[in-house]
Amino acid sequence: MDTKVLSSGVPFSNLPENYVRPESERPRLSEVSDCEDVPIIDLSHEDRSQTVKQIFYACKYYGFFQVINHGVPTEAVEKMKLVAHEFFGLPVEEKMKLYSDDPSKTVRLSTSFNVKKETVHNWRDYLRLHCYPLDKYEPEWPSNPSSFKEIVRNYCIEVRGLGYRLEELISESLGLEKDYAKKVLGEQGQHMAVNYYPPCPEPELTYGLPGHTDPNALTILLQDLQVSGLQVLKDSKWVAVKPHPNAFVINIGDQLQALSNGIYRSVWHRAVVNADKPRLSVASFLCPSDDALISPAKGLTEDGSAAVYRGFTYAEYYKTFWSRNLDQEHCLELFKNQE
Ligand code: OGA
Ligand code: NI
Repeated sequence: MDTKVLSSGVPFSNLPENYVRPESERPRLSEVSDCEDVPIIDLSHEDRSQTVKQIFYACKYYGFFQVINHGVPTEAVEKMKLVAHEFFGLPVEEKMKLYSDDPSKTVRLSTSFNVKKETVHNWRDYLRLHCYPLDKYEPEWPSNPSSFKEIVRNYCIEVRGLGYRLEELISESLGLEKDYAKKVLGEQGQHMAVNYYPPCPEPELTYGLPGHTDPNALTILLQDLQVSGLQVLKDSKWVAVKPHPNAFVINIGDQLQALSNGIYRSVWHRAVVNADKPRLSVASFLCPSDDALISPAKGLTEDGSAAVYRGFTYAEYYKTFWSRNLDQEHCLELFKNQE
């Protein structure tokens, strides 16, 4: 059988040619150092104004941070990781029932990023699920492993709660009303990408995911504690984000960059692969409702600062994002006002 996914159970001894990046685009892994000062924000801190300050600093200068004591129960997280591993360990025939390369599908197993649009592939398989409203989407989710639906449902609810809390802190940190982001983003969608990066015979030549920014509002990433692979662009250099125990990595998406009038960064990030161990990550994306009108917050332009971006609906943005390849310029550049 011509398997489309990488996680077929048969290891690869060489990297197929259509995964090899041209010399100038390779990850240069030996030049990447660990990010020693990733902001780690303790969400159980009593002094809220202190937390808001930390959020401001992290979003403005990094575009990403890790949160600890975030309120998502450890059990929900551990079960999520286990069931994700179990899913990717299923026989390939079973998984292929869910295969699709059509990004508009609400449940699909796929590989790389956007196989129909890209010329070089990425060393990743992923299960992508729409998650909200739960009652609408859960029936479509995989029923094998048998505990999948229940575990993922619970995880989704917990993570959504965390996302809302963060959106409040982020709004406050911009000097806006606490519920500003929530109001503007409307009835937010929630998507999940369960990413599986199999061991790769030539990690220097390819990516799990090449550099990109996330098109949504906020991303809550659970990464494998044992196997790192996430890197972010900081001061024009790629740095590795070492997994912190019991933490989530949060990154600002394009929509919060637009809403903040560019004060906050939707950070460039990428996933690299390794030769020894599979790596798993679970990305939860909070997305504005399709008809949400995104524009720089009024409170941020009242002082005469120009609005950097024009208003657009999320539906318009999302369509533009998926019509392109990942490693192009920042999608938000296409939505800038003329200077
Ligand atoms: C993503 C992503 C990073 C990772 O799914 O958008 O950036 O470490 N994932 O898997
Ligand atoms: Ni991403």
